[in-house]
Amino acid sequence: MTYSVAVSGASGYAGGEILRLLAAHPDIEIRTVTAHSNAGQPLIDHQPHLRSLAHLQLQDTTPDVLAGHDIVFLALPHGQSGQYTDALADTPLVIDAGADHRLTSADAWEQFYGGDFHDPWAYGVPELPVAGAKQRERLVGASRIAAPGCNASTVSLSLAPGVAAGVIDPSDIVTVLAVGPSGAGKSLKPNLLAAEVLGSANPYAVGGTHRHIPEIRQALAQAAPANPAGIDPADIRISFTPVIVPMARGILATSTAPIAPGATDADIRSAWEDAYGDETFVQLLPEGHFPRTADVVGANTALLGLAIDRAANRVVVVAALDNLAKGTAGAAIQSMNIALGLPEATGLSVNGVAP
Ligand SMILES: NC(=O)c1ccc[n+]([C@@H]2O[C@H](COP(=O)([O-])OP(=O)(O)OC[C@H]3O[C@@H](n4cnc5c(N)ncnc54)[C@H](OP(=O)(O)O)[C@@H]3O)[C@@H](O)[C@H]2O)c1
Repeated sequence: MTYSVAVSGASGYAGGEILRLLAAHPDIEIRTVTAHSNAGQPLIDHQPHLRSLAHLQLQDTTPDVLAGHDIVFLALPHGQSGQYTDALADTPLVIDAGADHRLTSADAWEQFYGGDFHDPWAYGVPELPVAGAKQRERLVGASRIAAPGCNASTVSLSLAPGVAAGVIDPSDIVTVLAVGPSGAGKSLKPNLLAAEVLGSANPYAVGGTHRHIPEIRQALAQAAPANPAGIDPADIRISFTPVIVPMARGILATSTAPIAPGATDADIRSAWEDAYGDETFVQLLPEGHFPRTADVVGANTALLGLAIDRAANRVVVVAALDNLAKGTAGAAIQSMNIALGLPEATGLSVNGVAP
């Protein structure tokens, strides 16, 4: 069977990456692409790297244009998806790359985003440990999927095995991320001009204000094995500092947390080995090895390096992924494959494009 697809936000970064991956997917026909200020223009004018899709024209993003497809991808600024999802009740599968359907807590939504709160959908990070299982089980047959925030999934994948195994203390997490400016989208912002970014490392959203914090707390709370509902997200405390660095794509997150009392080095390492040993797209590197963003560009792969710092009494996890690939579009398409019952890796590459 071939599934017909509409992609909204097709002139943007996330929409463009969804299209790049879908163009190589054997079971997908990209029928419709939509945008906002650039509607009416050829897609190729905005995504000149997508040569195989040069025949497509950007249409207005309206419920009518998006309806009538087997699958709709929403890659819109947060707060914009809800109005379309309500109107897409008859669409068999809707996948939102935005934040609108990620959070289970209306209070957290109000605090970090504001505006209308929408129902949470199945969270599109298949490899995440959740309550003794994996998130992929919750994606089987799903009809509504919320793809993750790119920083959020990097940090959640980094620490969830330690929370699930009880070998780290999740009440004192510190994470610092080097992030490429494509994570902030394609629209013009003065702080993302080349003159501001090239040759500089620029921190932003310092001091507990970044919107991905509640998403990480939610994911880590659900990873805890103690009871099926997980632990209270309020018990997950995280200091989160992103720093924009001059690379178009990529996230390198260094996350640390105290070692839980009594946890041995073997307990700690096996927590991550057990969580990801069988995974294709989330890989723990051998002891003493740490990832580089250059190794995951264009890949649907998250690479993790683990160190146990006994002097500081902390576990250190360094994680690299491509914010647009594994951090958004790859996660969305991997989740789509699971929902549809297709082989999970269809259309996705574990290999990057370095150098
Ligand atoms: N960039 C990432 O690494 C990343 C990672 C994870 C998740 N996401 C999420 O993906 C979503 C899109 O992000 P992005 O980085 O692709 O942003 P972007 O590059 O700025 O693209 C935004 C897209 O949405 C369209 N748009 C803007 N306002 C709209 C409206 N009112 N109604 C309909 N369409 C509208 C734009 O169309 P025009 O160009 O025609 O105006 C453009 O196609 C966001 O929710 C973001 O949080 C992004």
